[in-house]
Amino acid sequence: MTQAMEAGMKSQPRVHLIWAHPRIGSLTSKVVEAIKNEATTQGIDIAELDLYRSGFNPVLQSEDEPDWANPAKIYSKEARCLAESLDGSVSLVLVFPLWWSSLPAMLKGYIDRVWNYGLVYGNGKSLPVSSIRWIALVGGAKKNFEDHKKDHYLEDYLNNGIASYCGVQDSTVTFLYNTIAFEEETSDLGKHHEALITQAKGVIIDLATEIQKEIAV
Ligand SMILES: Cc1cc2nc3c(=O)[nH]c(=O)nc-3n(C[C@H](O)[C@H](O)[C@H](O)COP(=O)(O)O)c2cc1C
Repeated sequence: MTQAMEAGMKSQPRVHLIWAHPRIGSLTSKVVEAIKNEATTQGIDIAELDLYRSGFNPVLQSEDEPDWANPAKIYSKEARCLAESLDGSVSLVLVFPLWWSSLPAMLKGYIDRVWNYGLVYGNGKSLPVSSIRWIALVGGAKKNFEDHKKDHYLEDYLNNGIASYCGVQDSTVTFLYNTIAFEEETSDLGKHHEALITQAKGVIIDLATEIQKEIAV
């Protein structure tokens, strides 16, 4: 059992929810609300980091630039505090809209500054969680996305390029497709969004089952 799981046994397991969207009322924010409610139903505590409304500055300045010769570098207080705040969580859930086939700058900047060399990777460090669940809201249609292998590209980028690099092997990406019904018409956009919210809740239900299984071992 991992340290994170042991921590989870002492009380309700905690999941860290990190998300990025400028607008409350966006589909992304509705997905986040549904995830929080589902987590409560599943007996999971949520620690939330709403990047846009927390005042986080995603621009990496020299104080958070890694010193490759010194993994013990003292980074900015903000980066250190945010890295420390992950301690005690069993899992990370990151929710974001797909922008230019990638992460919004706000979330990318969080990873640049906080998931930093010597803080959460390198020199024997790793993220202090057992699993990561990425939930990406995709404007485009599933077929176009898959035809262009963008799902593979993003899975490789997020699971291998980031999660595994930070020591977390159990990482998956869930795509919520056709959010703006631009590439593929939908007769009822509201219903389609409800289905996407249900899909996101399913990620939390599955995650809760996995966490309970690990705690039981
Ligand atoms: C700057 C920007 C870039 C975008 N790039 C993409 C893209 O590369 N692929 C895609 O499928 N949708 C793209 N979209 C559409 C978003 O994914 C879509 O607006 C979002 O999933 C809708 O959820 P929301 O209401 O929470 O914003 C982009 C949107 C913005 C604002």
